[in-house]
Amino acid sequence: MDNAREVGETAIMTENEPMAARAGNAETDRAAELRALIARANELYYNRDAPEISDAAYDALQRELRQLEETFPELVTPDSPTQTVGSEVATTFRPLRHRLPMLSLDNAFSEDELRAWEEKNRRVLAIGPEPPIEYVCELKIDGLSINLAYEKGRFQQGATRGDGYVGEDITLNLETIGSIPRELKTDQDAIPARIEVRGEVFMSHREFARINAEAEEQGGRTFANPRNAAAGSLRQKDPAQTANRKLDVFLYAVGDCDGCSFTSQYHLLETYSKWGLRTNPNIRICPGLEDAIAFCTEWQTRKATLPYDTDGVVVKVNSFDLQRELGTNSRSPRWAIAYKYPAQQVRTKVESIEVQVGRTGAITPVAYLTPVAVAGVIVARATLHNEDEIRRKDVRIGDTVVIQRAGEVIPEVVEVVTSERDGTERVFEMPKECPSCATLLIRAEGEAVLRCLNPECPKKMKEGLQHFTSRGAMDIEGVGEKQSEQLTESGLVKDPADLYTLTREQLLQFERMGDKLAAKILVNIERSKARPMANVIFALGIRHIGEHTAEVLAAHFGSIEALCAAEADRLGGVHEIGHTTAESIAAWFREPRNIKMLKKLEEAGVRPTAHSALPKSDQFAGKTFVFTGTLVQLKREDAETMVKQRGGRASGTVSKQTSYVVAGESAGSKLTKAQELGVPILTEEEFIDLIAASP
Ligand code: IVH
Repeated sequence: MDNAREVGETAIMTENEPMAARAGNAETDRAAELRALIARANELYYNRDAPEISDAAYDALQRELRQLEETFPELVTPDSPTQTVGSEVATTFRPLRHRLPMLSLDNAFSEDELRAWEEKNRRVLAIGPEPPIEYVCELKIDGLSINLAYEKGRFQQGATRGDGYVGEDITLNLETIGSIPRELKTDQDAIPARIEVRGEVFMSHREFARINAEAEEQGGRTFANPRNAAAGSLRQKDPAQTANRKLDVFLYAVGDCDGCSFTSQYHLLETYSKWGLRTNPNIRICPGLEDAIAFCTEWQTRKATLPYDTDGVVVKVNSFDLQRELGTNSRSPRWAIAYKYPAQQVRTKVESIEVQVGRTGAITPVAYLTPVAVAGVIVARATLHNEDEIRRKDVRIGDTVVIQRAGEVIPEVVEVVTSERDGTERVFEMPKECPSCATLLIRAEGEAVLRCLNPECPKKMKEGLQHFTSRGAMDIEGVGEKQSEQLTESGLVKDPADLYTLTREQLLQFERMGDKLAAKILVNIERSKARPMANVIFALGIRHIGEHTAEVLAAHFGSIEALCAAEADRLGGVHEIGHTTAESIAAWFREPRNIKMLKKLEEAGVRPTAHSALPKSDQFAGKTFVFTGTLVQLKREDAETMVKQRGGRASGTVSKQTSYVVAGESAGSKLTKAQELGVPILTEEEFIDLIAASP
């Protein structure tokens, strides 16, 4: 690009100015212009899915701006796209409709459930207890499923599973994964014309530890587990960021295929391996179900030695002929099942019990334990929930306890091993006062939880700020646990709205706050002003309002003012909003302190409307859908969520106001009514097409 040459020329330094050249009007204007062009390209690409310029042209704009700013550092502004420290997770990738749905698996939690599964299959196949069915057992990889399309052996396109029917196009990010080959290793005539290879992207324990350590160092956020880390890495806007996190893949299934001749699951895995597709080595052909059960038992302990997470074993009928005969139901194949391990339990000692103050003032007792490894993770704390739970389980300081961790759930104390008591154990008393602000704690009638009701409690403010800045809320990376503590304890931030008036100098006074981190925080605060309404509502930290409820409220009310003006009655009338939630919202908006904060947020430029949320498609925005009959490919609740995510509403009754009726199998009176009223009727297929075509 010509501008690169211009920058080079103006960058030539004179002897009088050996340190740095100063930008002239031309450079200042060009930098502003580039920022505007990049912002527009971002908006079109990410929010409207309608890019006007190629990726290469976009990169050239970024490169030019970076060069200009390097040459003339005074041109750098906090909101410059080059100052986006860290990386950004994209909210929208191009949707890709799967040619064949990506189903999920049914689960078995015991040997008996595995046996019941086989018996059911025998009935479907109309065979008795003999002959044995041959299975292939594979590890269930705890990652994200992906679909890779190869044409004439060349990698063309890759997608996430999405809702099983429509995924997201993440081709560029997948291309950065070393173990996904660009070309299949085989003679051209031996490969299918087109094949969809399916498998799992995951992150190793080692890489997980590395990126978390790096994030901690840079004041960034850490991931809770390797699966989340893999998901976050795969959904980066910038493929270079995905490339920085080492992801890996195991491939184990086939989607749509033109010219495939696999005869069995084992044959498929062998062939994949020959083609250079990475398959997991820990597989076994099992001549009958008892051998498959033995494999499951064996891996229950062996899985601890793996360098990545597995959450069970997938038992698959080996023969493809039998698989075809068994077929699938709407959600999962009958020929495979996931055997899930029970939550792992271990014994350890309670060294102390302390209480934590949450953002809503809830006081939670936590057991501090002698650290132990549970399901591959070192556990040093476990929640005791509340006072009643401590009494019920009679947990005392010094007790030996059994703790368990099931997947992502916070570990909990299951029971006390009373036979281990020696009389030195001490009963724990809940404090009467808040450990943070010494306010008398209150236990409301009918509640199990003690609460600190002081709105200015420093610990509550810190937790509230951390929630406000979290990913699903305002997503202000750089304000982690430590920074939230510094900001609230210093009195600089009394409510989250105070973030928006922070200056660089104020930030720099804190320990371990360098120029880079301060700049990152300021940039991210600035960017957070454009967060969609649902995220802003969630950020407010209203009790009972999770991310989903926040979305429902944003879609229904369209503005914070409208939400604020709604009385509890009206709130309770909104689909999915129950009485307690409605009361909690109304109470929050009655608090003068909260209204003051909202005003401050608005003055600072946080003025979300529902339209700044995900781009809404015209087919859905403001439209009401009624589903009737049995949907074959979709679960009804998933279909309703899809409508809502796109700005529409799902209703149970057909009226003149209904925009579409989606009629599944055996639709009855609602379909008739729709026909009478002349409401447009869609088949399930047509509905899926509409979804696939909308952003
Ligand atoms: S076979 C029709 N094999 O588990 C579904 N799935 O809980 C075919 N998974 O969505 C899936 N390891 O993402 C299969 N060895 C394995 C797997 C595996 C992990 C995931 C997959 C699936 C999920 C279901």
